[in-house]
Amino acid sequence: MKIIITGGAGFIGSHVVRLFVTKYPAYQILNLDALTYAGNLENLRDIEDAPNYRLVKGDITDQAFVDQLFANEEPDAVIHLAAESHVDRSITDPLAFVKTNVLGTVNLLQAAKNLWKPLGYEGKTFYHVSTDEVYGSLDFGPEMFTEETSYDPRSPYSASKAASDHFVRAWHHTYGLPIKLSNCSNNYGPNHFPEKLIPLAIHRIQHGQPVPVYGKGENVRDWLFVKDHATAIDAVFHNGKVGETYNIGGVNEWANIELIHLLCDTLDEKTGKEKGTSRKLITFVTDRAGHDLRYAIDSSKIMNELGWKPSVTFEQGLSQTVDWYLENEAWLQNVTSGAYQDYYRTQYASR
Ligand code: NAD
Ligand code: DAU
Repeated sequence: MKIIITGGAGFIGSHVVRLFVTKYPAYQILNLDALTYAGNLENLRDIEDAPNYRLVKGDITDQAFVDQLFANEEPDAVIHLAAESHVDRSITDPLAFVKTNVLGTVNLLQAAKNLWKPLGYEGKTFYHVSTDEVYGSLDFGPEMFTEETSYDPRSPYSASKAASDHFVRAWHHTYGLPIKLSNCSNNYGPNHFPEKLIPLAIHRIQHGQPVPVYGKGENVRDWLFVKDHATAIDAVFHNGKVGETYNIGGVNEWANIELIHLLCDTLDEKTGKEKGTSRKLITFVTDRAGHDLRYAIDSSKIMNELGWKPSVTFEQGLSQTVDWYLENEAWLQNVTSGAYQDYYRTQYASR
């Protein structure tokens, strides 16, 4: 089987590529990635010479390129993760999100349909990886997003992901494309780009810099260890039903401020600082525009039907994550130079 995994040099994609390359040596894995600011081949250094792995550098918004690639490579499956993924960037540059997340997804759908439909769809899969943010925002309380929850995206990022989900389902209903979809909560773990809350906070605490917490820090997210998202994708890809959607989450809700407290205390303990030292860096800043209050995801379908469950507790996953960042200072140094610094200066200056 030949699988094109898009966005394989990014945070989640690199964990998915590694899992598939090592667990399924008989599969050929093509990593299709434009290597934007978020794509980093360092994430894949350990498997880049594997005989069943290949990088194809290219942009999914380039329709002619995507068509040619599918015609040349004749993949059996696509696992689509390439996206613009950061909510704050979508607020300042929404068009980039429309281009990559909507147009890029439609280019892939068309290329797959045009390649597969004439010969029949037997053995083919188009798997689209999406987010819980398409469901909108919940109040505090027991309610959770299920696979039946109506879409209500509220940021340019989530609107672009919601649109891409709709296009994927449209290609299934209109052209019979054998699709699978999953919507996952917030991931954390090694190789997470330090514009997102957890790696950003780790990086800033390490450098004794203010840790920006939006608003009052009361917003709630559900956190899942990235390697557990990768095993969930494996389960859906191999055993999920065609045409169906699976919610994936960690049953692990945290208010941002509580999470930052835990992170500060974990870092104090691991770096031999007096407890409370890092908490002094917490700085409340202007809230994110349209900041969704709470996400909570009901994962009972994937757990009951496919037997998937997270392998680590949050404390274990967070501890492993902090250790990874402490041991990989060079990785952080590399990604926090240049363009990222410029972006962060403008973000912080405007708050
Ligand atoms: P990321 O930003 O870390 O990585 C995105 C990757 O896509 C990068 O390697 C980048 O180079 C590549 N890419 C971007 N634009 C491209 C283009 N035009 N052509 C080809 N490649 C391009 O993202 P992530 O956090 O790993 O998220 C991966 C996917 O999972 C996304 O679809 C995202 O919406 C979804 N998701 C993310 C989370 C999360 O918590 N990070 C949760 C649920 C779902
Ligand atoms: O829910 C899944 C989504 O999780 C994914 O689809 C997105 O790709 C991913 O980026 C993530 O989106 P969030 O906006 O939830 O993640 P982020 O790390 O940017 O923010 C997490 C929470 O922390 C959110 O409530 C905003 C807040 N925050 C974030 C940053 C960067 C802060 O308080 N301070 C910050 O500096």
